[in-house]
Amino acid sequence: MLLKSCCIYSTGVCSMLFLIAGIALVLSNVFPRFVQSMVEKDVVLENGTEAFKAWENPPAPIYMQFYFFNLTNPMEVLDGDRPAVVEIGPYTYREYRPMEQINFLDNDTKLTSVNTKTYIFQLNMSRGPESDLIRTVNIPALTVMEKVKDSFIEANLVSSYMKSTGEGLFTTRTVGELLWGYEDPLLKALHTFKPEVDNVFGLFYKSNASNDGEYVFFTGRQNYKDFSRVDTWNGESSLNWWTSDECNMINGTNGAFFHPVITKNEALYMFSPELCRSLYALYEEDVTMKGVHGYRFVPPSEVFANLTVNPANAGFCVPAGNCLGSGLLNVSVCKQGAPIIMSSPHFYQADEKFVNDVFGMVPKKEYHETTIDINPLTGILLQAANRLQINVYVEQIPRFSQTGNVRTLVFPVVYLNESVVLDDTSVEKLQAIAGVQNVVVNIPFMLIGLGIVLGGIFMFLMCRLSVPESTAAERQPLLSS
Ligand SMILES: *[C@@H]1O[C@H](CO)[C@@H](O)[C@H](O)[C@H]1NC(C)=O
Ligand SMILES: *[C@@H]1O[C@H](CO)[C@@H](O)[C@H](O)[C@H]1NC(C)=O
Ligand SMILES: *[C@@H]1O[C@H](CO)[C@@H](O)[C@H](O)[C@H]1NC(C)=O
Ligand SMILES: *[C@@H]1O[C@H](CO)[C@@H](O)[C@H](O)[C@H]1NC(C)=O
Ligand SMILES: *[C@@H]1O[C@H](CO)[C@@H](O)[C@H](O)[C@H]1NC(C)=O
Ligand SMILES: *[C@@H]1O[C@H](CO)[C@@H](O)[C@H](O)[C@H]1NC(C)=O
Ligand SMILES: *[C@@H]1O[C@H](CO)[C@@H](O)[C@H](O)[C@H]1NC(C)=O
Repeated sequence: MLLKSCCIYSTGVCSMLFLIAGIALVLSNVFPRFVQSMVEKDVVLENGTEAFKAWENPPAPIYMQFYFFNLTNPMEVLDGDRPAVVEIGPYTYREYRPMEQINFLDNDTKLTSVNTKTYIFQLNMSRGPESDLIRTVNIPALTVMEKVKDSFIEANLVSSYMKSTGEGLFTTRTVGELLWGYEDPLLKALHTFKPEVDNVFGLFYKSNASNDGEYVFFTGRQNYKDFSRVDTWNGESSLNWWTSDECNMINGTNGAFFHPVITKNEALYMFSPELCRSLYALYEEDVTMKGVHGYRFVPPSEVFANLTVNPANAGFCVPAGNCLGSGLLNVSVCKQGAPIIMSSPHFYQADEKFVNDVFGMVPKKEYHETTIDINPLTGILLQAANRLQINVYVEQIPRFSQTGNVRTLVFPVVYLNESVVLDDTSVEKLQAIAGVQNVVVNIPFMLIGLGIVLGGIFMFLMCRLSVPESTAAERQPLLSS
């Protein structure tokens, strides 16, 4: 009897202990923290780690897709009408972007490297061959006209030369030429006077099989939050194109890698050399890809908003005080003076005005926003789509009859969608990590469960123990009646 109740009471005590331990562990978050600190230690750019291997040579296939805007009414545009364009694409390239010339610095807390990008055309994923013709703005001619417009002599020279070659405000070129470069007659003529002028123009001229300069990255050895963060680019720790120090800052990673243990309330900073600036993305929603959990981060509209909405953007107005409105960025200063304006595809999240100025613009969140789906524990990208549009600022230039009566407008040339979807091998690794994480994180809940089961057994036994007496007491009146 004594042994029996001793057993019962120890069951009760164990039940209480398990419950208390379980609840304490849940509240103190020890097990999730433990998993996180293991990952934080693991995700470091160090020769030999998994993270370094994936960083040096990203295993997931990256595709760069181009969608051009083919102009259908050039004559009417020169007469002052609204341009009408047809979107044509995609023209898809497989992008290889290994990190090369890696050297570790400062006790392995930093490293230097260059990011060499190579583009291989994928006909089977494209609308047509690279020889498809596109009619768009004659960007080299427009750039030259803008440069010489204030000099009577030069403007006249250039204008007569353009007349002799039959060049105008618009040109028809192949996809391959527009992207990777073609010899332009006007540039070629200038080249003979000024050898420093390149006679080839292309939106991505010299971008294939080359890199955009040397980066110094933090390895994340000192602090996991610094994993792959850019320290300097081409030897500089900030830019000099913009008019405020904040806007010139180089913040965050290169956008392809992020630190582990991402939380919903942080801003993910990244530096985009194509955009010539840093920006950030905020949490939008939870996503799952092939069973792996992720957070979707997107750049909020404030990033590219006008000064009323985001006064800090004043620094992106160049020359100082010259602001174009929401959703546009004048990157002329970092594109050799070409009148290039960046935006989201179809002027998504830009002023209505720019959408209405061009017939054929249909901004849609699902197709035109930049998204980053990230596994919060490891910081690995599940999928991402970096989307931006290259536009040209077109206006009437008095000394050039070539510009006719054209309206002042931001003319869309091409938009690009650089996307990646994590490969199956990496997905399986993440699934395995998630499995381990689930087990470890659930240990406290298992303790609580065990506590509840033992508690149930304890109650049951307690009842059993008191049964004989109570039944005896209950039976007595029955018997006597
Ligand atoms: C990493 O280690 C391997 C083998 O020890 C060596 O060949 C390679 O050069 C190292 N890489 C770097 C970037 O130091
Ligand atoms: C880029 O360079 C690679 C190798 O140099 C070449 O195979 C490929 O065709 C080039 N791509 C383009 C678009 O020119
Ligand atoms: C397209 O062709 C390439 C080879 O040029 C091949 O590797 C790839 O799997 C093909 N993709 C599709 C979607 O057919
Ligand atoms: C773009 O427009 C031009 C001029 O109308 C036309 O010749 C060309 O075929 C069009 N391009 C495509 C890919 O449809
Ligand atoms: C860079 O980050 C700082 C804060 O860390 C912020 O004040 C600044 O606006 C950021 N600059 C850009 C261009 O994102
Ligand atoms: C800035 O954008 C907001 C919202 O899009 C708009 O209401 C406001 O008029 C704009 N301000 C200026 C100065 O354009
Ligand atoms: C864009 O910036 C360049 C260089 O600062 C400037 O010359 C040009 O006027 C700007 N364009 C617009 C449309 O403001």
